[in-house]
Amino acid sequence: MKDVITLKDIAVSFDGETILDGLDLSIHDGEFVTLLGPSGCGKTTTLRIIGGFITPDRGDVFFGDQRVNNVPPHKRQVNTIFQRYALFPHLNVYENVAFGMRVQKKKKAEIAETVEKMLALVNLKGFEKRAVSTLSGGQQQRVAIARALANNPKVLLLDEPLAALDLKLRKDMQVELKNIQKSLGITFVYVTHDQEEALSMSDTVVVMDGGRIQQIGTPTDIYNEPQNAFVADFIGESNILDGVMREDYKVEFFGKEFRCVDFGFEKDEPVDVVVRPEDIDIVEPEKGDLIGRVTNITFKGVHYEIIVDVKGFKWMIQTTDFHAVDSVIGIMIDPQEIQVMKKSEYSGLYGDYSSFSEEFDGLADPEAENGAAQ
Ligand SMILES: Nc1ncnc2c1ncn2[C@@H]1O[C@H](COP(=O)(O)OP(=O)(O)OP(=O)(O)O)[C@@H](O)[C@H]1O
Ligand SMILES: [Mg+2]
Repeated sequence: MKDVITLKDIAVSFDGETILDGLDLSIHDGEFVTLLGPSGCGKTTTLRIIGGFITPDRGDVFFGDQRVNNVPPHKRQVNTIFQRYALFPHLNVYENVAFGMRVQKKKKAEIAETVEKMLALVNLKGFEKRAVSTLSGGQQQRVAIARALANNPKVLLLDEPLAALDLKLRKDMQVELKNIQKSLGITFVYVTHDQEEALSMSDTVVVMDGGRIQQIGTPTDIYNEPQNAFVADFIGESNILDGVMREDYKVEFFGKEFRCVDFGFEKDEPVDVVVRPEDIDIVEPEKGDLIGRVTNITFKGVHYEIIVDVKGFKWMIQTTDFHAVDSVIGIMIDPQEIQVMKKSEYSGLYGDYSSFSEEFDGLADPEAENGAAQ
């Protein structure tokens, strides 16, 4: 596939502080790419570099084969929907969407046709004459999307466009946006710190932390084969353990050898091992590879989430069966459910659920517990 945007070894500092550090990224034509990471990791900065609002200190930005480091924003074929959407408050819905085309001196009939088409696309037919101040947050956001799309950009940059919406509306808009992107075939570069949103909408997810890309991959790659402890912890729930790779397909943790599907490590190389809570089988204690004691159980609707103490390490396991606190259980893990990762600067920072369990032990009434789980 053709690359529409390429970032090569991009670095940016503000006030002597490194914000982006050697970013390499290729974005294909028609791809839905999401930059995902915690607050302050450099997502907006990356988007602003693509949009032309920031010139990097080092590295190159290419649109196709053209180096665009010094090309101003309005000469790039991109449109941006900013983190805080800015509609023109004195213009009605129609004029907001028409704005870019008026600037470009498009013909009246063409403007009318495009505005109608865009408002239909975002489900706002009949809202043309409304003042934007009378619209709900979700409606305003859809006007912002229609306005950006009306300029027929090759690439649309979206900075947390749904962050201000409540959960239900956000879910609906996720589906709508994905449909719009597919039907128009526009390249989307989307920013969010919501991992579920990233996994459900994207073709490609770029996980960032500390101004660096931690992993680039499809949503299933990122989830099933995280490359380091940061990615494993940030996406979904993970038990992350210290292990030693004894040989190809054999990893040891808790003094036990497990078969796995990973290979290519040094003999006896220390590694991080990740096992997802939903991938663990609970069996009779005597049949388990490991034995543990249940210290906490929380009903989650579809499943129970239990915390299990194995030699002082607290595992999180999701199960559809009830297991009472203090019961002793056996744990079994299939080889393909074990993901072995290289040690990294993130090793040892995450992966044990002991603080989780203490926190929840202290919450007596279910309402407080629901609040904390949000
Ligand atoms: N113009 C600026 N001057 C100084 N520091 C800045 C500037 N813009 C961004 N930063 C800093 O750069 C870092 C990355 O900011 P950025 O806006 O890219 O983060 P982000 O990943 O978009 O975070 P969020 O999820 O909170 O929006 C932050 O520490 C921020 O304070
Ligand atoms: Mg941001």
